[in-house]
Amino acid sequence: MGMNSMGLQAGQVDKKALSLAFAALSLRCVECASLYPGVEAQPRYRCECGGVLDVEMPFQHPWPREMSPQEGYDALASAENDLMPLAGADWRQLFDERAARSPIWSLDGGSLLLDHSGVWRYRELILPLPTSLIVSRPEGNTGLYPVGIENCGDGRDGHQRIGQFAGVERLFLKHEGENPSGSFKDRGMTVGLSMARASGARAVACASTGNTSASLASYAAQVGLPCFVFLPAGHVAAGKLAQTLAYGATTIHIDGDFDAAMRLVEQVCHELGVYLLNSLNPYRIEGQKAIGFEVLQQLDWQAPDWLALPAGNLGNTSALGKALLQAYQLGLIGHLPRIASIQASGANPFYRSYLSAFATREPVQAHTVATAIKIGDPVSFTRARRVIEQTNGVVEEVSDEEILAAKSVIDRAGIGCEPASAATLAGIRKLVGRGVIKRDERVVGILTGNLLKDSVTGIPQQPQNAPLAANIDAVRKLLHGLL
Ligand code: F0G
Repeated sequence: MGMNSMGLQAGQVDKKALSLAFAALSLRCVECASLYPGVEAQPRYRCECGGVLDVEMPFQHPWPREMSPQEGYDALASAENDLMPLAGADWRQLFDERAARSPIWSLDGGSLLLDHSGVWRYRELILPLPTSLIVSRPEGNTGLYPVGIENCGDGRDGHQRIGQFAGVERLFLKHEGENPSGSFKDRGMTVGLSMARASGARAVACASTGNTSASLASYAAQVGLPCFVFLPAGHVAAGKLAQTLAYGATTIHIDGDFDAAMRLVEQVCHELGVYLLNSLNPYRIEGQKAIGFEVLQQLDWQAPDWLALPAGNLGNTSALGKALLQAYQLGLIGHLPRIASIQASGANPFYRSYLSAFATREPVQAHTVATAIKIGDPVSFTRARRVIEQTNGVVEEVSDEEILAAKSVIDRAGIGCEPASAATLAGIRKLVGRGVIKRDERVVGILTGNLLKDSVTGIPQQPQNAPLAANIDAVRKLLHGLL
């Protein structure tokens, strides 16, 4: 059996490192501020008061390169370790060095390319898990496309049309659909599945509008854990369902919406001791923070003015906001970007609450063509509200027509995305139109899912004509008419 970088045989867990890692973690209720241990015999996803939980941990200092991981853990554990807190410039240098290293696989297997993962590259800010427990594809390293009127570069008229549509001079689109399973969920799932393994889970489960299930099924298959996914029957895009089934998950189609599936999976996980991997699980949020860190690194740590993203269950808004706040606190960036959280107008409980300065909170019966964000009672509501308040952010709503118009602009530029992702661009355009986002501000929009996830909604359909005769005259005639 091959040895891994910690000098352990594959499959063997360093118990000391694990208990040190767990001891560093705690969970705080976002409603009443009660504090719990980070890991308990029965995994905890909510406070006694019903509130959702947020991971708290001291940022682990990266140990000097000449120390082995074991010596590093020992140094961190010892009371008189003299590892000084890092300055922002040191963190930046550490992450830049890791990103610059080319991925090299060892032939005898077992080596994990942690520095090459767009999540674990930032591991001190994500979760201090022993390397031997980390489950990674690896994920991240997704494209950041310059598509603004001014910053898209010469000869890229197709991309520039996106900037013109939005009315923004310097605009970037971060394509999280380029993750291994085709959505941003993989960033949370690598951390969630690693925690499931570390906690000795016997099975994993989630409720999903499709992307979480595809991602969970993929990571569960990687480690061979049984996986159960609860889906709103008939409301999951075909590509996502195909992935979930192909990766071997058991699908449970609920005669109800996502919110009903979510309530059921939470209850059943509690009763049957199955590890829950919705973003209700606070460790998933820690992984999704890496979207923010990676955007900042790709912009050479020059923070943009705005980050816009689609909002459904509100896990991603919570994660991105937490990442930006931490990056700012650590001195990785010099100013805090504002977050624009965009909802579909038929699934807009967060937007409605925002209009009343969050004085009210009412679930809605959700309807939208963007099935990924068809959610009426978001689980991470309070976490996300805090993010909007702390980043001086905004919440906007866009109609299905606006979503589909934005999607066709992104698709026709050759980038492409699934419908929910296009809410980002529709929202930016609307906020520019209302004068909230200024034309000359630097804006990053997150595209959350791959175009192939949903190959029907908003896609021009093939004409049903008879096929063209297979002769050159017929082809010439057709093309003459088109050129
Ligand atoms: N975009 C896509 C493509 C999504 O799949 C989701 C959520 C979101 C945006 C919204 O993110 O929930 O963190 O606010 N999809 C979940 C799922 C609900 O089950 O795949 P959020």
